[in-house]
Amino acid sequence: MTAHLPSVELPRYLQAGDPGWSTSADVIVVGSGIAGLTCALRLRERVGRVLLVTKTVLSAGSTQWAQGGIAAALDPEDSPQEHLDDTLIAGVGLCDADAVRALVTEGPVRVRELVALGAEFDRAPGGDILLTREGGHHRDRIAHAGGDATGAEISRALIAALDRVKNDPEIEVIEHALVVDLLTDAEGRVCGVTLHVIGEGQQGGVGSAYARAVVLATGGLGQIYSSTTNPSVATGDGMAAALRAGARLTDLEFVQFHPTVMYLGEGAIGQQPLISEAVRGEGAFLVDDTGERFMQGRHPQADLAPRDVVARAIVARMRESGAEHVWLDARHLSADFLERRFPSIVARCRELGCDPATQLIPVAPAQHYASGGIWTDLHGRSSIPGLYACGETACTGVHGANRLASNSLLEGLVFARRIADDIADRFAGGDLMAAVPVEPDDDRGLLAADRRRAVQRAMTSGSGVVRSAAATEETHAALRALLAEPSSAQPTTQAWETTNLAHLGLALTAAAHARAETRGGHERLDFPERDDASWLGHLHHVRSGRELTMSYVHQEDSGR
Ligand code: SIN
Repeated sequence: MTAHLPSVELPRYLQAGDPGWSTSADVIVVGSGIAGLTCALRLRERVGRVLLVTKTVLSAGSTQWAQGGIAAALDPEDSPQEHLDDTLIAGVGLCDADAVRALVTEGPVRVRELVALGAEFDRAPGGDILLTREGGHHRDRIAHAGGDATGAEISRALIAALDRVKNDPEIEVIEHALVVDLLTDAEGRVCGVTLHVIGEGQQGGVGSAYARAVVLATGGLGQIYSSTTNPSVATGDGMAAALRAGARLTDLEFVQFHPTVMYLGEGAIGQQPLISEAVRGEGAFLVDDTGERFMQGRHPQADLAPRDVVARAIVARMRESGAEHVWLDARHLSADFLERRFPSIVARCRELGCDPATQLIPVAPAQHYASGGIWTDLHGRSSIPGLYACGETACTGVHGANRLASNSLLEGLVFARRIADDIADRFAGGDLMAAVPVEPDDDRGLLAADRRRAVQRAMTSGSGVVRSAAATEETHAALRALLAEPSSAQPTTQAWETTNLAHLGLALTAAAHARAETRGGHERLDFPERDDASWLGHLHHVRSGRELTMSYVHQEDSGR
């Protein structure tokens, strides 16, 4: 039985000044993580003019922070089928098997192309790419770079590739550009974006960019919570703009809380230091205050069980003991090994006063990844014609209720290529013609930038790692009250981001309230069991009229 919260209305646009300039391209790619860069580079080879816009600088997104690595069946002993099996288990019944098959079969080829492009993965003395293991994987299949700096190396290689084509007039990059909203025509097809360029951009202030297709690769929404492993730019801008424009968003309640985030104290807010699952992959283990290895006997894979299982076990142990965190013990791995294998993590821990070679690391779960997002099909097409979504912004169906470790970089890589090729093929077939946007009307909203902490507090207390009907109801009411406040907020980047977080918070919380079971990243205190009879399916959100509506689709009927 679906318990619905009071209905809410969403404005179509964020409050913003009238566009003072315009530009056009064949395709606009928004975001410069692995998904956005891969897509833009491939599009450049296959279509006319590509415009790549990114909110701060090219390297600022979540990709840069990815530690563990990229999963792919690269070992001759491994197979895409085994990778598929592990992904489906982690997704707890809600993955789209066809999407996962695309991921695991195309993944190895895409990783090899990344190597050919210049990404340098760690290698064994014989030259083979070194592979490690993370939670939920039954084989060593995680390729890594710089020990624990995989995302940074991939980002470096992709930006270098972009740099090599920077004189090509067919590709333009605009940094410091926040996409405010999507432009759509009278039939609802996407025809561009409004964006605000700050600082060094050639054209300042709010402008319009027109295109035949738009790809949103804007990353996650981690800043919706008080603490997260995500960087400050992860404010769900693409997801929120798509929601306001009428796109379908799916599986928002499945937020992944990473089990081992360094605990910096109760009041720590913003981006927190991640201790990669690969540290457990190399033999570190969790203990409680008494030294008990509490993952043993809880799951056949113990400390390397899927991420949701480990996070839930930690929260349960913290609840039982009243402790604010548990501990990660990596001391037996030795200083020499830790410094070589995890140089960034060791340096960060030491900066923060904890030496993993001699001390236990205090850890607790914190927000890490949005498994849901903008619903897409196998080509990355959203429910709005001409609008594509890729990477963490998208819900391709590969993650289900819980993403398997190190599948996120792979998803960005595989689906970016699929999207670029789909757009090029459609252009070649005369599809996706330029459209004329309807004039934005006065259906606008804006929450003041100084309300961000209130949004984060409400989301953390009610829609965080452990939820209940009462807590989600309270969170929803708090968000509604914030958005109903009379506002004379000035349109600024911080205010747009804060409003995006609040809009997504409403949808996420409605889903977290409705899903009366515990599954994957969604834990309900009042419904502690998985309930396939009622909940083997997906919650979709769509803005229809002005109203944000939610519907349930059974897994059997949700094929892409
Ligand atoms: C980690 O290194 O533990 C994170 C990798 C991921 O999010 O898949």
